Amino acid sequence: MERKTVILGVTGGIAAYKAADLASRLVQKGYTVKVVMTKAATRFVAPLTFQTLTGQPVVVDMFAAPPVWNVAHVAYAEAADVVLIAPATADIIAKLAHGFADDMLTTTVLATQAPVVLAPAMNSNMYLNPAVRENLGLLRARGFYIVEPETGRLACGASGPGRLAPPEAILEAVERVLRGAQDLAGWRVLVTAGPTREPLDPVRFLSNRSTGKMGYALASVAARRGANVTLISGPTSLEAPPSVKRVEVTSAEEMCAQVLAHLPEATALVMAAAVADWRPRAFSPEKIKKEGRETLRLELERTPDILAEVAERKRAEQVVVGFAAESSHLAERAREKLVRKRLDFIVANDITRSDAGFASDSNQVQIIWPDGRVEELPLLTKEEVAAAIWDRVLRVKKENQPPSAN
Ligand code: C5P
Repeated sequence: MERKTVILGVTGGIAAYKAADLASRLVQKGYTVKVVMTKAATRFVAPLTFQTLTGQPVVVDMFAAPPVWNVAHVAYAEAADVVLIAPATADIIAKLAHGFADDMLTTTVLATQAPVVLAPAMNSNMYLNPAVRENLGLLRARGFYIVEPETGRLACGASGPGRLAPPEAILEAVERVLRGAQDLAGWRVLVTAGPTREPLDPVRFLSNRSTGKMGYALASVAARRGANVTLISGPTSLEAPPSVKRVEVTSAEEMCAQVLAHLPEATALVMAAAVADWRPRAFSPEKIKKEGRETLRLELERTPDILAEVAERKRAEQVVVGFAAESSHLAERAREKLVRKRLDFIVANDITRSDAGFASDSNQVQIIWPDGRVEELPLLTKEEVAAAIWDRVLRVKKENQPPSAN
């Protein structure tokens, strides 16, 4: 099995010495451990300690260029399967809660898409201070995993909550997060993305403003969570995410054929593509000339409704999710589609918002369920929306399936 990489962030508290034990245990468990220290942490423990225990260079200053290897400021963020910060001081918790990126560790956390586990350790009064409580609350709400400190004798002599959780508890949390991150292992998922192009003549086509970002985020998150992903993509400028099989298509007709061809093996299908609804009735093999005409009348016909075709063929245990991009009566229209296309749920976004929908990196969606329930998600990045969608697909799949079946 591929070795997992743990980025171990060590911050400046007396419990920093305990991070050496954690680093050593992680190495013994077979993880690649790369340590990033804050400057303050180096006052408590020498980088050499971690370098020796992990067999890896230790990074403190993101601007220092070590002679033998080059760490781009986001290289660790990309390499991480999980980021563990132990001990996490009140200071790093505040910085992370507010998006600071003023050293290698904060930059890595801000740039990573890996899960982050925090093991706070500090004086009890600091730990109980509302500022720290609120910052931890913000991080928890954003999906950080917090390994609560223990109550006991603290280095300052006082007794109370704030002592770094025992190494067993921290390692357990890291492994749980890594296992959890693979919750789509064994699945084959089909994702569609991007616009379609409906040709008019050899140089012109009808299309829409979809960039494919939402579908690509869905594919990339599913792959990271262990699924075998086929991404059926209309024309976009995006690169295929790592370990995703991309099938490139142009028209709705081609997309339909590919979706139906891949459907039988799919555990789940998420149709994020903005499929054109209309195409020119006739394709002109010659470029349509402008000379001699003031107007041009185009006759359009409907493209195949891919989800309607899927609805007729899908097996009961296959989960199918659609999208609805609307500018008015969002929930109502989405619900109508959900019923008509026999979807497990539909993801509806309001395309009139500038910070959501087409071309944006963020998205605010509602999830609409067959029983009429509407879940309103906050404004999230498309990656976070993708994660929320897969969480729900997973839940539907579990509910659909008797525990004995596979
Ligand atoms: O009805 P509407 O086109 O708005 O429904 C949107 C959903 O249906 C999206 O998931 C989209 O990918 C899918 N769709 C489709 N075939 C079409 C048009 C849309 O599967 N021809």
